Amino acid sequence: MSSKRNLNLIFLGPPGAGKGTQAKMIVDKYNIPQISTGDLMRAAVSSGSSIGDKVKSFMASGALVPDDLVIEILLDRLSSDDCRDGFILDGFPRTVGQAEALDQQLNKKQMPLSGVVAMMVPDGVLTDRLTARRICRQCSASYHLEYLKPKIEGVCDRCQGELYQRKDDSEEVILNRLKVYHDQTSPLIDFYQKRKKLYTVDGNKKIEMIFSEICDIIDKLNSP
Ligand code: AP5
Ligand code: MG
Repeated sequence: MSSKRNLNLIFLGPPGAGKGTQAKMIVDKYNIPQISTGDLMRAAVSSGSSIGDKVKSFMASGALVPDDLVIEILLDRLSSDDCRDGFILDGFPRTVGQAEALDQQLNKKQMPLSGVVAMMVPDGVLTDRLTARRICRQCSASYHLEYLKPKIEGVCDRCQGELYQRKDDSEEVILNRLKVYHDQTSPLIDFYQKRKKLYTVDGNKKIEMIFSEICDIIDKLNSP
C-alpha cells in the first residue's frame, strides 16, 4: 500500500456471497479490521449476555435483528481505536435505516466512506454454498466442504479452532435469509449507487479471482 488514506469499506451482498471469506483476506493484506455484525451477535449469543438473549430468536429464524439494537452494537464497535485507520463492515448496513445511521456517524467523526463493494451471486449458488459451509468457532473463518476444504477435516487452517455448522445454514432458514435480503437489503445497492460509492463485483467466480478484483478496487480508492 502506497498511501496513508483511510479505507472505510462496506461489503454488501446476500447470505453466502463471500463477504466473510473476502473480508478475512483483505484484513491480512491491508491490515484493517473486519467488523461483522453477524459475528458480533453470535459471540453475544454464545456468551449468554442480555444482548445475546435479545437477538437470538431473530438470528435463528433468519430475520433481521431490529435496527436500534444492531446500530448500537455496530457504533460501539466502530468507536474502538483499531478502526481509526479504516475498517471493513461485513453485513452492515442491511436496511436503509442502518445506512442512514451509519452516514450520520461517519459524518460526525469525519470518517468518509471510501466505497461499497457489492458481491453479486445468483440465489441457487448461494444455497449450495451455505448448506456445505463450515465455520471456525475461534476466528470465524469460513470453509466449504467442496470448494474450500480445510487441510485437516474439522480443523481451522488459520488458528486450529474447531469447525462447526451454523444453525441458520439449514435450507429452510436460508430461504428466509434470501427473502429478507431481497426485500430489505438489496435497496442499498441503489442507495449507494446514487451516492456514487458502489463498486460491483461478480461473486460467482473463483475466490482468488474475486479477491484480485476487490484489491484492484481498493488500490484505486487508495491511490492519491
Ligand atoms: P451474517 O453472519 O452477516 O450472515 P449473512 O449475511 O447471512 O452472510 P453469511 O455470513 O452467511 O455469508 P458470507 O457472505 O459471509 O459468506 P462466506 O464468506 O461465509 O448474519 C447472520 C444473521 O445475523 C442475520 O441473518 C441476521 O439475523 C443477523 N444480522 C447480522 N447483521 C445484521 C444487521 N446489520 N442487521 C440486522 N440483523 C443482522 O461464504 C459462504 C460459503 O461459500 C463458505 O462456505 C465459503 O467457503 C464459500 N465461498 C465463498 N466464496 C466462494 C466462491 N467464490 N466460490 C465458491 N465458494 C465460495
Ligand atoms: Mg459472513
